[in-house]
Amino acid sequence: MPDVDNPTERSLADLGINDPSAVATEFAKVRERFDKQVAAKVADKPGYVMMRNAWLGRKSGVLTAISDNWLRSAVPSLKPIVGQSLNDLRRHVEERLEEFLALAEKEAEAGALARESLDLTLPGLRRPVGSIHPITRVQREIEDIFLGLGFKIETGPEIESVYYNFDALNIPETHPSRDDFDTIYIDSNTLLRTHTSPVQIRAMEKFVKSGAEGGLYIIIPGKCYRHDNPDATHTPMFHQIEGLAVDTDITFADLKGTLDYFAKKFFGEKTRTSFNPSFFPFTEPSGEVAVSCYVCGGVGCRTCKESGWIEVMGCGMVHPQVLKYGGLDPERYSGWAFGLGIDRFAAARYGINDIQLFFQGDVRFLEQF
Ligand code: PHE
Repeated sequence: MPDVDNPTERSLADLGINDPSAVATEFAKVRERFDKQVAAKVADKPGYVMMRNAWLGRKSGVLTAISDNWLRSAVPSLKPIVGQSLNDLRRHVEERLEEFLALAEKEAEAGALARESLDLTLPGLRRPVGSIHPITRVQREIEDIFLGLGFKIETGPEIESVYYNFDALNIPETHPSRDDFDTIYIDSNTLLRTHTSPVQIRAMEKFVKSGAEGGLYIIIPGKCYRHDNPDATHTPMFHQIEGLAVDTDITFADLKGTLDYFAKKFFGEKTRTSFNPSFFPFTEPSGEVAVSCYVCGGVGCRTCKESGWIEVMGCGMVHPQVLKYGGLDPERYSGWAFGLGIDRFAAARYGINDIQLFFQGDVRFLEQF
């Protein structure tokens, strides 16, 4: 359907145009319409394509309409002027379209450049870098010392049975030492392990199952739980490293030698160790290991409460009953074990007087490591 309101859809005669100046005026109007549109629409490539089709499109472009409706039916006297005007208009349309496209592209590029430009005077973005938690660091440090001695790392479950946590460690039901561990129970048979010692039994069982070749030399790092009220030296969750050496010829001298070596590696070559009698149901004899104070070197200070010594772990010869629970013949095998608190070692290493800080997740504290 021809658009009767659109003059280019009608013939010149129909429009009442019959002299050259009227032709010029009509072409000027069309050109004005184009100029308005091109400025408004050609802001980018799609706008350009759309305008090009609307004006220069072979089938339905405005210029085709002018050619069809004005030129073809023009009276001979007007034909040259209409043809000339149409050519001028075509050149104008083509030039303007290209001009506006170039302008749009230049602006787009300038915008992109502005967006991508780099201001070298701006302050840099500080990207916070994570770090290894101090407990993990100290755990790894301790592990490395024992790995260097040929020990292997063993782990066990944090949710443990009463059997492994107590019974198999020679802590019978009625034994008062069960009270020493403020145990968090899940049910009457299940608890959160109160120490890493249950893994001694699990490891011995595995060792026996595997054929008991050579000895068993392991360290057992892990989380432990006790119903403790949190304070500077207690947290309900804490970390231990257990050591266990079982073989056919293990003596207390091996225990002393190994822990003395370890203490010197960890606290410094000048460190001395002292073994004092103690009691654990799963070791016999049992000992408490103290190291010469790592702050004052042993002369006496606040850290060692003027004694020159700091207790750092429990240890002893594996109780024959415990070897039996593990499936080993105490006539043939002997062993030693120790257990230490990693958190207290970390506090010592970094001079921290409240181990709760390790577990509060305060970035201001953690970013110091
Ligand atoms: N399991 C003991 C505790 O948690 C530590 C220990 C381990 C003592 C091994 C002796 C031998 O207190």
